[in-house]
Amino acid sequence: MKDEETIRSEFPILDKEVNGKSLVYFDNAATTQKPKAVINRISNFLSEENANIHRGVHHLSMNATKAYDEARSCVAKFINAESDNEIIFVRGATEAINLVANSFGKNLLDTGDEILVTEMEHHANIVPWQLIANKTGAKVIPIAITDDGEIDLKDFEAKINERTKMAAFVHVSNALGTVNPAKEMIHKLKSKNIPVLLDGAQAVGHQAVNVQELGCDFYVFSSHKLFGPDGMGVLYGKHNLLSKMPPYQGGGDMIEVVSFEGTTFREPPERFEAGTPNISGAVGLKEAINYVNELGWENIEKIESSLLNYATEKLSSIPSLKIIGKAKRKVPVLSFTMESAHPHDVATILDSKGIAVRAGHHCAQPLMKRLGVSATTRASMSFYNKVDEIDQLDEALKYVSKIFGD
Ligand code: ALA
Repeated sequence: MKDEETIRSEFPILDKEVNGKSLVYFDNAATTQKPKAVINRISNFLSEENANIHRGVHHLSMNATKAYDEARSCVAKFINAESDNEIIFVRGATEAINLVANSFGKNLLDTGDEILVTEMEHHANIVPWQLIANKTGAKVIPIAITDDGEIDLKDFEAKINERTKMAAFVHVSNALGTVNPAKEMIHKLKSKNIPVLLDGAQAVGHQAVNVQELGCDFYVFSSHKLFGPDGMGVLYGKHNLLSKMPPYQGGGDMIEVVSFEGTTFREPPERFEAGTPNISGAVGLKEAINYVNELGWENIEKIESSLLNYATEKLSSIPSLKIIGKAKRKVPVLSFTMESAHPHDVATILDSKGIAVRAGHHCAQPLMKRLGVSATTRASMSFYNKVDEIDQLDEALKYVSKIFGD
């Protein structure tokens, strides 16, 4: 196992100074930093290997096609999909959900049908369903959460009925860090033949994902939250569903034959990848997966759970600070409010000390409303963070308390 300094040295940005202080990067839920291996791989691809895929018989094009296909296989293996054809490359988790809502949801849903989500969803897993509900006459029904930020499983059971036609919920909450009992929930939904989409945007960077074990029909995530490039993401879908779904976008590469009399479409995954895809993004994502695999989930989870425990203990001892989200199973995300200081003021003061956190509603306004807050400050960690940095956060928050007179 690599030691802390080795891991940190592999992420060039962590050496940076911000406002005259060493950077403490605690905004990993917004985006993760990139290891040199990923940066170099993308740079090398663009300098030495760049060409469009599927369109050329020349050397570079064939090699780029191979690299793109290998990235797909790598992702399939990473989440244990049954076949490479179940992996669609998209722009990110948001596009993946929009694709499913529009292609799968539109055919499925009718007036009065219900789409189950939860009160802790990111807007990306609410708004696409609302848009499709508006077109089809279906309704989006939120499952309640508890004050600790866990799904209320009694409400979950109560909300399932004969009108429930789709369920889409978050694997790990971006705002609270809660890890949901996805497998158990999916089992329940599947026993009623309800298709399930799991939003894995915040899960993939913290824990192993096994889509066959989870039993979901769709799983979505973004590469940039997995130490890979942005503008790149994955939709996993069971092949028997994907093969029946109409295209989401039209264009080159997704067709068999085009004529003015009518057009026929390729099988998935190509059917859903119109136009030139993010080839360097796919290659970079593969490198990020290799990096994480090499480090190993067991090691990552060990580091992250000790960071979470330490940070929770430290921050809990600040009298004016209230942790928002106390689920039993969490990834290292700490959302909090302070008695007198607004989250934006807290984040600004932390920034002056080189500490990067996010403040606001975290693209989860219904969750904020449910928890009775307008915003929180969120410190989100990753395996490259260290205990010293939590001490710096603790010091800085005590300073905030002092200047706001708490
Ligand atoms: N969804 C990202 C976050 O939680 C951007 O910050």
